[in-house]
Order: sequence, then structure tokens, then C-alpha cells
Amino acid sequence: MRRNILITGGAGFIGSHVVRLFATKYPDYRIVNLDKLTYAGNLANLRDVEQAPNYTFVKADICDFDTVCALFRRYAVDGVIHLAAESHVDRSITDPFTFARTNVMGTLSLLEAARRAWNGAWEGKLFHHVSTDEVYGALEAGGGLFTEETKYDPHSPYSASKASSDHFVRAYRDTYGMPTLVTNCSNNYGPYQFPEKLIPLFINNIRQGRPLPVYGRGENVRDWLYVEDHARAIDTIFHRGRAGATYNIGGFNEWRNIDLIRLLVRTTDQLLGNPEGASERLVTFVTDRAGHDLRYAIDASKLRDELGWEPSLQFEEGIERTVRWYLDHSDWMDGVTSGAYEKYYEAMYGNR
Ligand code: NAD
Ligand code: TYD
Repeated sequence: MRRNILITGGAGFIGSHVVRLFATKYPDYRIVNLDKLTYAGNLANLRDVEQAPNYTFVKADICDFDTVCALFRRYAVDGVIHLAAESHVDRSITDPFTFARTNVMGTLSLLEAARRAWNGAWEGKLFHHVSTDEVYGALEAGGGLFTEETKYDPHSPYSASKASSDHFVRAYRDTYGMPTLVTNCSNNYGPYQFPEKLIPLFINNIRQGRPLPVYGRGENVRDWLYVEDHARAIDTIFHRGRAGATYNIGGFNEWRNIDLIRLLVRTTDQLLGNPEGASERLVTFVTDRAGHDLRYAIDASKLRDELGWEPSLQFEEGIERTVRWYLDHSDWMDGVTSGAYEKYYEAMYGNR
């Protein structure tokens, strides 16, 4: 059984929940968290597990092939859960090179390091690649769901880079026989998400009385999943999924942006003790995102039927829990938006 697990991107939003789940649920595993600590990586996300005896943090770049190879040897890595990536669509529109570098070349660097370390002894090994539903492109309003058989049709530089990385992962399976699997998940929400993504950005802006920039007419649809449910799905699939398979992960939970924003405004005002509807005036329609995909929606029935996973939280409950968390952790929010934590970790770990 795999016990020496390399988790990449463990200081980010989803990665920190995966690290926490694995470090607490599997005390006899060794969890190595490899993260470059970009603007999106934050060790404050892992305060409660950093002292765990089965947990090690390594600050490094996944593109640094020699370092990655050395890590495989040093920790006898037999399982990889690969989350490290540049993850924000808007940033990919202004800086596509960084996305190709980290998401494509970084993934290739990990795959090749795994291939050399495992050297054909595939038994008991697994490379689990965490990807997005955005590789499938966009759906019409009300028209169908993404299944594992949907053809890839990425539109943004972000989704194009993730699609490319997915193809490399499958190529390693087909060419070398490496045990790999790919999971494609819908939009996540919950604690520790960097506040450039819709939900934490809007909670923070409501808190500070700043405008809420709604792209276009707010009619785009996303399928939202609570981040701990995603972490549980990764746990289930990493342990019981079939090598070579693809699993879609989603919340069965589609929301038009504008409806979600109204729910967020209502919930945040309520928890702040503001009069009902007080922050509605902050909603500001702005120029649409270039190439903005209209709708994403996942058919997660394969995962449910084969492995018994289901989302555990109702959306309204998840949103309330999330808003409460951000309001209770305004120091975290202020830290990540001020850039203070970046300076702190640079001083502590250097700026490699
Ligand atoms: P995030 O941006 O919050 O975190 C990314 C992490 O990767 C950060 O800790 C960052 O420091 C690290 N990282 C970036 N470049 C690196 C490099 N070159 N070397 C090492 N570490 C590096 O992202 P997230 O939202 O937690 O997403 C994690 C993964 O899940 C990504 O692969 C993303 O494509 C995928 N995903 C995200 C969502 C979502 O809704 N957020 C949905 C589906 C899939
Ligand atoms: P985002 O959280 O960036 O995730 P993704 O682009 O990966 O789906 O955005 C979610 C939706 O919200 C998407 O349709 C774009 C929209 N959006 C806004 O309307 N305003 C914003 O300021 C942001 C960040 C997103």
C-alpha cells in the first residue's frame, strides 16, 4: 500500500484541505508537501498540521527537475497527488507563459521524475493528477452535462494549459504503462481560497463596502462544490479509483453568477448585522471576461455509482459556513491581500 505521498501545491486552497485530511486521517503515512509558495501559496493555511510528525514541507518549484527527482529518492515517494498549478483564469489571460510553464512543464517534470524513480516497478504506485472541468469547454444554457467522455475543448489559456497537462498524464500511462489517473472537478468554494476568485473576493468587498464587479450580465453558470467534499473525493479516488481511469467530480449544484451573488450578499449582510439588502448597491456590472465560458456543469454519477462518493453539504449551508469563516478570519484575509505573508515567508525560506 502507498504510504509516502508527495502532494504538490499543498499550501494552496484545495491542496491545504487535502494535506490536512491526509495528515490527520493517515498517521502512518508520510505526507510531503511540495510547494513554491507563489502569491497563492500560504503556509498559514496549514498552521494546524505543520507540527504533525507525519508531515514535511518542502519549498521548491515543480519545474525544478533535479530537485523533484531528489525528493522522489529522499522520501521513497510511491504516490503523487498533483495539485500545484497556476489556477486563475483572469491571470492566464494577461500572463499565459507562466501558465504553460507551471501547468504543462511542471506536470511533465513530475511525471518524468516519477517514471525515472519508479523505473517500471509500477506495482503499488499511483500518479493522481488533479484537474478541472474547464478542459471540456463551455455548455449551452440548460444543455447537458460534462461526462468523462466529453471531448476536450478548452478556451482560456488556463484551461488550455490544464488540458495539455491532462494529455501528458494519459500519455505516460499509454506510453510507459505508468499508473496514473485524472480527476476533473467543478468550481470549489470554502475556507482558504485566495480572494481573487469570485466568492472570497465578493465576501471581502462586501466587508469593506467596495464594488462587486459582475462580469457581463452575471448569466454565466458554474457548478459549485464545497472544498472539503473535493478533498474527500480525492481521498476516495486515490485509494479506490482505477488506474487509467478519469473521474469527474462535481456538486450537482448549478448557479447563475448573479443568483449566487445575491445569496452571498444576503448571507454576508445577515452575518455582519447589516440591514437586509444593504450591500445590493455594491453590485456593479463590468465588461465581460474575454472568452468567458457560459456554463460548466458536471455529471459526477460515475464517481457516485462506482465509489459511493457524494457531496455532503447543501449549498446554502456551505455558503453560510464559508462567509462565517472569512468574517471570523479577517486577519487571514488582510494578510493575504497585503502581501505581508509573502515577505514573511521569503525571509524564512528564501526566494528560490
Ligand atoms: P491555488 O492557486 O489556490 O494553489 C496553487 C498552489 O500551487 C499554491 O500553493 C502555489 O504556491 C502552488 N504552485 C504554483 N506554482 C507552483 C510551482 N511552479 N511549483 C510548486 N508549487 C506551485 O489553486 P487551487 O484552487 O487550490 O487549485 C489546485 C488544483 O486544483 C489546480 O491544479 C487547479 O487546476 C485544480 N482545480 C481547481 C479548482 C478550483 O475551483 N479552485 C477546480 C478544479 C480543479
Ligand atoms: P472564478 O472564481 O474566477 O472561477 P472560474 O473562472 O474558474 O469559473 O469565477 C467564477 C465566475 O464568476 C466566472 O463566471 C467569472 C465570474 N466572476 C465575476 O463575475 N466577477 C469577478 O470579479 C470574478 C473574479 C469572477
